[in-house]
Amino acid sequence: MKQITRAAELTAAIEKAKAQGLEIGLVPTMGALHEGHLSLIERATRENDLVVVSLFVNPIQFNNKEDLAKYPRTIEADLALIGTLPQARATEVLAFTPTVEEMYPDGEPTEVYHFGPVEEVMEGPRRPGHFSGVAVVVRRLFDLAQPRRAYFGEKDYQQIAVIRALLEQIKYPIELVACPIVRADDGLALSSRNMRLSPAARAMAPAINATLEQAAEMAEYEDVDDVKEWVLDTLASFHEVNPQPDGLRFEPEYFEVVDADTLQPIDDWDDAGEHGAVGCIAVWLDGVRLIDIVKF
Ligand code: PAF
Repeated sequence: MKQITRAAELTAAIEKAKAQGLEIGLVPTMGALHEGHLSLIERATRENDLVVVSLFVNPIQFNNKEDLAKYPRTIEADLALIGTLPQARATEVLAFTPTVEEMYPDGEPTEVYHFGPVEEVMEGPRRPGHFSGVAVVVRRLFDLAQPRRAYFGEKDYQQIAVIRALLEQIKYPIELVACPIVRADDGLALSSRNMRLSPAARAMAPAINATLEQAAEMAEYEDVDDVKEWVLDTLASFHEVNPQPDGLRFEPEYFEVVDADTLQPIDDWDDAGEHGAVGCIAVWLDGVRLIDIVKF
């Protein structure tokens, strides 16, 4: 593993690799790595000759300054973790850790991306500018790393749809590899934000996944609206059924059942297309916004 902080140094390494005909895999991250990220990096090292892992907390995708300030930054531990991964097909892993000035040398980027219906639901209206900010940084990373494949986790399900739309817009021949969610033993979807949960909140958080799993069973015999209502009610009243310390409670922001490809909400299970339906949830707990999905 080699750490690179300068864009010019990354470009030089990529040009050399391209001249040798090597295939490059890119794993974009914001650091604070956990087993979910490591599974993406491991897969990328199996499927490519050179892997670039970017670790960059991208300020322009945060529409909430407090969330940006509180985002965990654990770069030394992250680099150590990447160093522990077994070598596979990729003989080299480059950890790209630019500063904000290095990533955006001309100041805050002015370009704005629009993706139509896939960004007009769920996270889109609730986090204005978020997906455009993600697209700006991901495109820059694509330009720098020139990957054959790019790896993203399915926990950020809508982000994957947006990046797919970005690739269609910019017509880069990059294969988007969507990787399954990695969960803790108790079912909680791994997320860098989990480390901000108090021990009591961390103990409560697996109820999100447990509720979604029950929802998947209910979907066999209940209609979409009933399942949606049940999920929201179950989480909102969780603290009444299971009394919690310090007034801890779930505050669901949304639970939406959408077509797996178009991300448009469906009212009837039969309206889902060839890849079925997905339930996407955002829930506040202990001042932390958690997201998760369930496939129906
Ligand atoms: O999913 C993330 O961690 C970020 O949105 C990404 C893709 C690294 C862009 O900053």
